[in-house]
Amino acid sequence: MLLRIPHVLTPDELAQVRQLILQADWADGRITAGSQSGAVKKNRQLPEDLPQAQQARHIVSVALARNPMFVTGALPKSVYPPLFNRYGGASNYFGDHIDNAVRTHAATARHVRTDISCTLFLADPASYDGGELVVQDTYGEQRIKFDAGDLVMYPGTSVHRVEPVTRGERLACFFWIESMVRADAQRRLLYDMDLAITALRQQALGRALQNGGQTDSPADTAEVVRLTGCYHNLLRMWADV
Ligand code: NI
Repeated sequence: MLLRIPHVLTPDELAQVRQLILQADWADGRITAGSQSGAVKKNRQLPEDLPQAQQARHIVSVALARNPMFVTGALPKSVYPPLFNRYGGASNYFGDHIDNAVRTHAATARHVRTDISCTLFLADPASYDGGELVVQDTYGEQRIKFDAGDLVMYPGTSVHRVEPVTRGERLACFFWIESMVRADAQRRLLYDMDLAITALRQQALGRALQNGGQTDSPADTAEVVRLTGCYHNLLRMWADV
């Protein structure tokens, strides 16, 4: 499942993150690449132990935790601490690759299985040419270039690349998620079910208000209660926590 999550960062947070990381010292992007991806990777990356990286990571982590669409779509068990990269000038692309299945966080030796890959865009798309994230899925290639502050999540199993940036600079945050639900198809089903239940509850609320109800949370119908039960029982069956 490819999912766009708009406005993960507020304009203020986006400005803060950009200011923090743009003044830091960047390194060659191959510091986190495996041998296959290292051969096709030509970008720059922020070393994760820099104070600016830590502060920017904190802003992103707080924003993710408060975003219901992120939580619903990812059902995160463990999130690899967000990293930052930039593409431009001579370091401007990342060819086709699949992300390593397991990332080990150097500072904590903690392992994260990369069920989901995420890119949070940090540059105005009008400020650079190229730089699309191209993800191969069963419907063909998806070319992704979102507004600054928007996030895309896609299955970690996908072959993907970043097209060469031919003008300006593409700045982004990227990270991986180990989900409580390992299989993409199961996460997709839970996500669809969650959206449908939420919509049914909104419709019930609209009807209650139309009928002069005072409460902003009318009692759920028996059907919604059963569907919510199904959601949780599927999650109970599939979740690994
Ligand atoms: Ni990748």
